[in-house]
Amino acid sequence: MEAIANGLILLILSIGHAELWVMVINRTHALPIPDARLKKLRHVLELFIVLFPIVLFLSVGLYTPGVLLGGTWSQLPFWWKPVLLVCALGFLGLLYSGFRHLFYKPPRLQIEYQSELIHMRQRLNQDLIGEGPYHYLAGLPLNEIFSVDFTRKTFQLPRLPENWDGLTILHLSDLHFSGTLKREYFVELCRIAQETKPDLIVFAGDLIDEMKCLDWLDDTLGPMQAPLGCYFILGNHDWHQESLQIRETLVETGWIDLSTKPFLLQHAGHTLQLAGTEVPWMGEHPEIKRSTIGEGTEPESDFLLLVSHTPDHFHWAVRQGYDLVLSGHTHGGQVRFPLIGPVFAPSLHGTRYASGTFARGSTVLHVSRGVSGIHPLRWLCRPEISLLTLRVSDKKKSD
Ligand SMILES: [Fe+2]
Repeated sequence: MEAIANGLILLILSIGHAELWVMVINRTHALPIPDARLKKLRHVLELFIVLFPIVLFLSVGLYTPGVLLGGTWSQLPFWWKPVLLVCALGFLGLLYSGFRHLFYKPPRLQIEYQSELIHMRQRLNQDLIGEGPYHYLAGLPLNEIFSVDFTRKTFQLPRLPENWDGLTILHLSDLHFSGTLKREYFVELCRIAQETKPDLIVFAGDLIDEMKCLDWLDDTLGPMQAPLGCYFILGNHDWHQESLQIRETLVETGWIDLSTKPFLLQHAGHTLQLAGTEVPWMGEHPEIKRSTIGEGTEPESDFLLLVSHTPDHFHWAVRQGYDLVLSGHTHGGQVRFPLIGPVFAPSLHGTRYASGTFARGSTVLHVSRGVSGIHPLRWLCRPEISLLTLRVSDKKKSD
């Protein structure tokens, strides 16, 4: 019985050890490190994750002190103690993020949520797996890559001008064209999204993983239209490709590049300031256009919208006074474990902003799970496209 309990402790410590390296993987993947170097680093860390339990079970479990064979923990060699303490902390960290996922509640500023499940394979009645990288993953059992959640969320935003009540934004992110999922999948998805007739469309980056797919824009994002325009930024995967060409092609199809400077848009008597950031991979954070009247500190707009590929800039956006931040990049973790939730998320905050709606003060962050990924694998984490409806706050209505 004691041997089973000790085996369980060794297992927990191994999981804690793995979590520590996953934390390192998540943070390093949030930085502008070239792909080849990131891959090497990840392979080394994955090797640590696999080897450590073997060493732990052999050494502590069977040799000295041999806790699986009647040895006691008090005989543990001195140098193992700090190592196992750190592993225990790693396990506590995993429990914490599990609790955070389990008890996640959207902020009160999100007043409505609906989701429609679209089974793309049945809808198109064809095999949608192409021959791109990692295509063998797409056919794995229980993979939800072809079951898309079309989510509809309503946010009540304190600074929204009254006559913008009901404004809709289509939030798309992380299409990752690579040839692994067939073109038809994206064509149909964009067509479905366009049918909702949003006022404004935003794409939050990671468009291309294989440059040969650039002409897919012709019948995916290309034909999309919205009365207030279609806006984009690029992501880290575009940065790994020929980002200049991707950017130019999107602009040629009529999309507006938000990465260079904020864009002022007049709508129903008010000004919307749209800005984008591709930091840390490309460019710099946008400078909000400020009024030249008075002390010149007030934004030259009634409402500030930021599109940031990574949600890591949320706290910066709060300090800048943005009203709404739209992000992608983390893919919701792509694979979620029962109870624990997401484990992998390329963010300086780990899985904290893997997906969903968050608020700090009057700033709302919406992180899309995105549509695809270089690895076409989704377990308990469906792809997502979102239609966001903005509503005036109750306080403003009653004033
Ligand atoms: Fe992505």
